[in-house]
Amino acid sequence: MNQYTLAEAMTDKGNFTVPKLPESNMGFGVLGVFLGLLLEVSTHGPHAVPRTSWRHQDLDLMEFSEPEIFNYSTLLLSEKRDALYVGAREAIFELSKKNVTLKNNMVQWTVAESPMVMCMQKGKSKERDCLNYIRVLQVVDDERLYVCGTHAFQPQCDYLNLADFSLEGRPEDGRGKCSFDPSQSFTTVMVDGELYSGTAYNFLGSEPIISRYSPSQSLLRTEYSTSWLNEPSFVFADVISEGGNRVDGEDDKIYYFFTEVSVEYEFFGKLLIPRVARVCKGDLGGQRTLQKKWTSFLKAKLVCSMPELNFVFNVVHDVFILKGADWRDTVIYGVFTSQWGNVGLSAVCAYNMTAVEEVFSKGKYMQKATVEQSHTKWVRFNGITPSPRPGACINNLMRRQNISSSLNLPDKTLQFVKDHPLLEDPVLPIGNGPRLITKDVNYTQIVVERVRALDRNIYDVIFTGTDKGILHKSVVYGGEVHIVEEIQLLKNSESIKNLLLSPETRSLYAGSDSAVVQSPTAFCGRYLSCFGCVLARDPYCAWDPHAAACLNIFDAPSQRLRKLIQSLSGDADQCPADVSLSLKDYRRVSVKPGSSAELPCLGHSNLAQVMWKANGSALTEASRFHLVGENRLLIYSVAPEDQGHYECWSVEWAPAAGKNFSRLLAGYVLTLDVPQAGHAPAGREAASTGAAEGNGKTAAALDPPGATTRFTPPPHSSLTPPPGSTVSVQRLPPSSDAPRPDGRDPAAEYLQHNNGAALLFLFLLFFLLFLAGLAYNCYMRYLPAPCLRLRAALLGGHKSAQRPEYRACEAGPAESPATDKIHMAEPPAQNGGRAAQNVRALRDTGYETEPECGNGQNPSGPSGGDSPSQEKPFDVDCESQPIQFADADEP
Ligand SMILES: *[C@@H]1O[C@H](CO)[C@@H](O)[C@H](O)[C@H]1NC(C)=O
Ligand SMILES: *[C@@H]1O[C@H](CO)[C@@H](O)[C@H](O)[C@H]1NC(C)=O
Ligand SMILES: *[C@@H]1O[C@H](CO)[C@@H](O)[C@H](O)[C@H]1NC(C)=O
Ligand SMILES: *[C@@H]1O[C@H](CO)[C@@H](O)[C@H](O)[C@H]1NC(C)=O
Ligand SMILES: *[C@@H]1O[C@H](CO)[C@@H](O)[C@H](O)[C@H]1NC(C)=O
Ligand SMILES: *[C@@H]1O[C@H](CO)[C@@H](O)[C@H](O)[C@H]1NC(C)=O
Repeated sequence: MNQYTLAEAMTDKGNFTVPKLPESNMGFGVLGVFLGLLLEVSTHGPHAVPRTSWRHQDLDLMEFSEPEIFNYSTLLLSEKRDALYVGAREAIFELSKKNVTLKNNMVQWTVAESPMVMCMQKGKSKERDCLNYIRVLQVVDDERLYVCGTHAFQPQCDYLNLADFSLEGRPEDGRGKCSFDPSQSFTTVMVDGELYSGTAYNFLGSEPIISRYSPSQSLLRTEYSTSWLNEPSFVFADVISEGGNRVDGEDDKIYYFFTEVSVEYEFFGKLLIPRVARVCKGDLGGQRTLQKKWTSFLKAKLVCSMPELNFVFNVVHDVFILKGADWRDTVIYGVFTSQWGNVGLSAVCAYNMTAVEEVFSKGKYMQKATVEQSHTKWVRFNGITPSPRPGACINNLMRRQNISSSLNLPDKTLQFVKDHPLLEDPVLPIGNGPRLITKDVNYTQIVVERVRALDRNIYDVIFTGTDKGILHKSVVYGGEVHIVEEIQLLKNSESIKNLLLSPETRSLYAGSDSAVVQSPTAFCGRYLSCFGCVLARDPYCAWDPHAAACLNIFDAPSQRLRKLIQSLSGDADQCPADVSLSLKDYRRVSVKPGSSAELPCLGHSNLAQVMWKANGSALTEASRFHLVGENRLLIYSVAPEDQGHYECWSVEWAPAAGKNFSRLLAGYVLTLDVPQAGHAPAGREAASTGAAEGNGKTAAALDPPGATTRFTPPPHSSLTPPPGSTVSVQRLPPSSDAPRPDGRDPAAEYLQHNNGAALLFLFLLFFLLFLAGLAYNCYMRYLPAPCLRLRAALLGGHKSAQRPEYRACEAGPAESPATDKIHMAEPPAQNGGRAAQNVRALRDTGYETEPECGNGQNPSGPSGGDSPSQEKPFDVDCESQPIQFADADEP
């Protein structure tokens, strides 16, 4: 079995004869496939990188959680009321849709003593399983919700009165409506007062069922058979209403999406297959055959693969149905990963509703055939199918044949659909491949909003949530996917369990184990320059040249819309000429000879490259004593010839516009501060405050200040406050945890009050920094011969240590110098560690697979017999090194 047959078997329509090989052979083949795939996909595979990264602490997201209450995993938006209903563990909340921090109502629903005891007797854990996880919230009518909980592995349902927000207290059996196990996947949808669900019907979770509960009719369910459902993991169900628009008089259909174990492919293990199944709303079951069972249950394979790379995404995690005015405009979006999760790729595939419908109404059936005694195999059914078509909804044609409901269907049709629920034809994605492929993330949730941009075109904006609490926002422009931004929605690295979108409040609501978070769908106001606003290519955002602000086009008054600048190809030439920095706006930085200078430069685009110019010519990486980091320039041991003008440029490639856009982010005048007894402190103070003033103007040309706005840099950190901190003085109110008297620069203030101590302290700091820098440069072989000899002696001649060690530990694109300093000042408490992890998680979507520092391992490091510490005496350990510095210096 080679790489081709596995992928082909799953993507090609006709091929279902995968040769059965001995297991060892098979294992080898599959290993080969995936090794090959990993290489191929990571080198050639199309994947996108988010342009902008927003960290949780940079954004003022609204968040709700109650102490001692967890698992906010069930969300329901009310159309009529201004409410977001939240089902959590043992509690239901009514929050304000406009502001989820406002709790309007709450009701608790706990488990009584006896079910709890029974649950524990069956070997379940009291703290984890034998509680009531609210998992179903559905609107019954204007006054009531239908609510179900796992109720200590004995699911129960009840009605919730919205007027007084109380449960009616007459619980019904919830079997088949809600899962027993709080961690088992399941889905429900309420359609005209009838509850459709896909879940397990028993305690063990081994009896899957797709069913309909109706107050007026008897329960309708699936046949208990592996050809109907084989260990399914349900992800979504919804109704597609088409009744009114159809000439053939077919009724509405409920579509289910799930991943199950395939019956049609032979594989050495369990091969998972994503499926779409559907039932007809008007189904009443059969008269004799299929009594109280679906007569319209059919299912088909959903394909999400990259045929050119033979890569198959075979696990569907969530589905969003983007409904158009007409059902034919409806598009189904799904997020997929591969069963072999360690491949680290997620994909979004989109399906045309017409194509789905086509498969169900015209597709060929599959049939079980017995070969070689007991061995069965699924093959295409080539015989004559009975009429009416098995599994079809009742339509006008059937009505003319006197078949007005499923009860009138002939036994032959029913028997056929009972034995042939699986269709051979797969549902292929629009464009035959994924809309979006992302590396190193696991998408768990998806919502999509259709936006009409200023160019009058309609764009589908795709929001995908990950298992690390991050949200990606992507748009497809002419076949190319662009990830506008990634947003760290959740404070902690945990899975987004539920994601809803309200066009009305223009908000996203994410549920997780620890909280509910509300986020706007766009962060236009955070782009402070026209370049930033246009290059973001966000269909929600446009630049208003008059107000010199980036606006949400849905907030802009309609008469202004025509004046706004929006170019979804990222053509920033439409922007008014950048108010370029004049020389007097350059920040003056003055350092002592031999000490080091750090020039911060905050770009906010992960797609841009930072270019530094000294005296107008570009600095190359090879420049002596210079270290170009992702958001700063470090000059070690400043010498007289290093003085001059430094500029930080952002160069961003806009593929759709086909050119680079450069813009100046920051400018500095570096001078040497030759100490003259008594004058130095005053001079330095002037430099600092001067910088602050100068930068106030510079700020207009800067992209969002981001993180730095929230933090006051600790006084010892730097002579040159990061640009953001000065911006904050003007643009944002000082944050409460860092009160700053009359907007003065904190560094300057510190110097004023503690001149002597500060000088000593700064001197020590720079001395240590210098030593470290010297050592590091020596280690990196930036320094001349004597040092290299020392290095060679220390390292025993290893050659392969390279720059990545530094780069890997560099602050991320979203990270500001100020945060680095926070890390220095803070003890490595749990929160700090987690924050760092989150930042890393945010960055991990980068182009290159940079080595991780976290484990103390370095994949690119030398592989000699020496211990790692010997090989890399100055190997940068992201977390501990700065802390050591701080410890050594703090009095
Ligand atoms: C509920 O939340 C807790 C705390 O975050 C978590 O450990 C647990 O796995 C969650 N349980 C389920 C079923 O999601
Ligand atoms: C779906 O397919 C139909 C028929 O091929 C086509 O008319 C329609 O525009 C497609 N819809 C979308 C959203 O691609
Ligand atoms: C339709 O059904 C009715 C009653 O069920 C029966 O009397 C009638 O003969 C049927 N007509 C046809 C065309 O089958
Ligand atoms: C994705 O999930 C799989 C399985 O749960 C896990 O092994 C993998 O590490 C995850 N990948 C990322 C990038 O989170
Ligand atoms: C910049 O120019 C000045 C004078 O023109 C010179 O002294 C200095 O060395 C130059 N600096 C750099 C970094 O090239
Ligand atoms: C755009 O900028 C990048 C990075 O500076 C450079 O490598 C590339 O050659 C430039 N492309 C064009 C067309 O100028």
